[in-house]
Amino acid sequence: MLFGALLMLLTTQLASAQARQEYVLDTNWKFTKGDVPDAARPNFNDKSWQTVTLPHDWAIYGPFDGNNDLQAVKIEQNNEQKATLKAGRTGGLPFIGTGWYRRPLAVPGFGAGKRAVLLFDGAMSNAHVFVNGREVGSWPYGYNSFFFDITSFLEPGSNNTLAVRLQNQPEASRWYPGAGLYRNVHLIVTNDVHIPVWGTYLTTPEITADYAKVKLRTKVEAPTRTGSANLRLQTEIRDAAGQVVATASTPLLATDGQEFEQNLVVKSPKLWSPETPALYTAHSRLFAGEELRDEYTTRFGIRSFRFEPTKGFSLNGQPRQFKGVCNHHDLGPLGAAINVAALRRQLTLLKEMGCDAIRTSHNMPAPELVSLCDEMGFMLMVESFDEWKTPKVKNGYSQYFDQWAEKDLVNMVHRDRNHPSVIMWSIGNEVPDQSMPGGNKLAKQLQDIVHREDPTRPVTAGMDRIDDAIKNNFASVLDIPGFNYKPHRYEEAYSKLPQGFLLGSETASTVSSRGVYKFPVVKAKDKKYPDNQSSSYDLEVCNWSQTPDEEFVKQDDLPYMLGEFVWTGFDYLGEPTPYDESWPSHSSYFGILDLAGMPKDRFYLYRARWNSVSPTLHLLPHWTWPGREGQITPVYCYTSYPSAELFVNGKSQGRQTKSTTGTPQERYRLMWNDVKYEPGTIKVVAYDAQGKAVGEEEVKTAGKPHHIKLVADRTTLTANGQDLAYVTARVEDAQGNLCPEATNELQFAVSGAGRFRAAANGNAASLELFHVPRMKAFQGQVVAIVQTTDKAGPAQLKVTGKGLKSAVVSLTTK
Ligand code: GAL
Repeated sequence: MLFGALLMLLTTQLASAQARQEYVLDTNWKFTKGDVPDAARPNFNDKSWQTVTLPHDWAIYGPFDGNNDLQAVKIEQNNEQKATLKAGRTGGLPFIGTGWYRRPLAVPGFGAGKRAVLLFDGAMSNAHVFVNGREVGSWPYGYNSFFFDITSFLEPGSNNTLAVRLQNQPEASRWYPGAGLYRNVHLIVTNDVHIPVWGTYLTTPEITADYAKVKLRTKVEAPTRTGSANLRLQTEIRDAAGQVVATASTPLLATDGQEFEQNLVVKSPKLWSPETPALYTAHSRLFAGEELRDEYTTRFGIRSFRFEPTKGFSLNGQPRQFKGVCNHHDLGPLGAAINVAALRRQLTLLKEMGCDAIRTSHNMPAPELVSLCDEMGFMLMVESFDEWKTPKVKNGYSQYFDQWAEKDLVNMVHRDRNHPSVIMWSIGNEVPDQSMPGGNKLAKQLQDIVHREDPTRPVTAGMDRIDDAIKNNFASVLDIPGFNYKPHRYEEAYSKLPQGFLLGSETASTVSSRGVYKFPVVKAKDKKYPDNQSSSYDLEVCNWSQTPDEEFVKQDDLPYMLGEFVWTGFDYLGEPTPYDESWPSHSSYFGILDLAGMPKDRFYLYRARWNSVSPTLHLLPHWTWPGREGQITPVYCYTSYPSAELFVNGKSQGRQTKSTTGTPQERYRLMWNDVKYEPGTIKVVAYDAQGKAVGEEEVKTAGKPHHIKLVADRTTLTANGQDLAYVTARVEDAQGNLCPEATNELQFAVSGAGRFRAAANGNAASLELFHVPRMKAFQGQVVAIVQTTDKAGPAQLKVTGKGLKSAVVSLTTK
């Protein structure tokens, strides 16, 4: 193959300066499932393998099958007394087994005096990487980023081959892990003298209104020492507008070893916060004499925070509580395959809710998420592990812990420690080592590793075994004691622990299905129904968990509470509690938003509390209940206003006011529990604290399904082959009311400069495949995802359904 053609295969060139080239290896991969003896060999014939583009999740295309990772287990942290068969625990998708990826590897500009590195953002899992048939290295943990210097494995010229073997074991996870090269792979070519991967560490040791001190430590590697004489690092700090605001030029002194330290001052710094995510960049250029040897950009933010006994958390001097959610890494219908547009949509929805923090449960996130959180303004708890030495699942991380935990923590911290969004590190979630002798020593060891690599951020862990954790001095070792599902014990933990503050590291775990309402409306634990759905009145929880309101009470009443991270922001694949034993349930019910990213009612309960920018006024349930005439059908209102009056067909049902003296629900919801259903209209009129009517909301009884209505989250997209539009298809009656129980199957056809990528309806018990362009509406709605190609132009999504007037949405890709 010609060199020019090979260059094209490198597709996305990220940075191009004379000194350094960075490429994303996204196209021209061949993939096969199964183990193949000689697949690493350069001349192996992979013609019959599937051609794939990265990021790629080999398992998301299904089919679903309850035998894919059938687990006969007793889940101890769920208080189970005996082992039962769990079919959907990891999502029922075919992610187990071995898979191989291969591609030709052109390394432009490589030759004498050059270095090449392969950087994997994450590979699921047990990656073995081969260049030209020789193994370069391996990395077991599927969530971490890792890199290998491949210089000595490369042939000069263009004729190199890259092969990656991955293997997923059964019973290795408590949720859907995904499979394959599901995050990006980068090729970085530098000079022999260069700044290595994650080679800078930038901190802001002093911040005032007038200035911020910026300390930049930059590593230099010069493996063969050629050209390493007379080195100088020149750094420019630029603000968001690109203006240079500080500069430094520093010679590498013999005493500096292999590291430069530069101290710069930014005057009148713009502080980073979720509300004002101001960013700066430090552009460093490495010179040997007059010759440019390398360039490196470190993006950062300037912000300070404190965790203070009795007072709690403050950012830039302003006290606040984390309004956080826990999320797993999957992107619903896209599986684990990372996609920036999908992440950005998730963050946009969370922002709208007023959420300001994310816990990357229970592992390292994709780097794209961390960068987006910097840009869009979210505070991150970056988490590492779901288990240490003592297993939770048969083939989990415990098998690697002794050999890999330190390496995994070091990579996690080195990759993400320059990001302003990262506020704290978590060394683990509900690790059974809380109860084991020596568990506190392990906690201290891991925390010390993190402190060694980043002394500027505190360390936490999510603890569930509160008695053991306190008794064993596990909880007292941590910088920040985080408790999962323990609002009823916060006062006690506070009095027994030395830190003077507590975090709700995981809260609520309320279960619901979007748009599904069950009667009678009662608070219940582990409640199951024959249709495998949970009620959206937001009163159903697990035996270990709580309704949102119970957590709110403690967060509001105890001044030392740092805030909460709700389990979870979005539904995820796997862990279909309370239907763990009831196939076909295979995705979670915990999300505030469903698997398709559609908000459940609970979204508005949190929005009312968290979004201080615009008011919330939301009514539930839907009002289309043929057959329920005359029966008690409670009406709830989730609102930021203190009080509201409800009308059914114009008749007042009285005024309700939030009350601090009643139940947690009465404090945070307005509830009319005795309403009798009659078709027509329910309407609330909301009042502010001064008693002024300030808002209205109504829900109407819907007629028969009549047409499809399409609502796109974005209509102008980037023609980069990756960008996505999420189009919600609603089945409506002739008047434009949502038909809230409609199950019509809808078909999706994309024409022009786009292609159908996937669909999702949020039904945890549906086995319809995401990538097939048809899907049944669930509670009247489906979301279809259109992906751009690399050609610009108009694209159209047409949605049809039997007996329904079809609809078209037009998109433009540029
Ligand atoms: C917690 C656990 C989470 C999830 C959740 C469900 O115990 O940390 O990963 O399993 O329960 O409520």
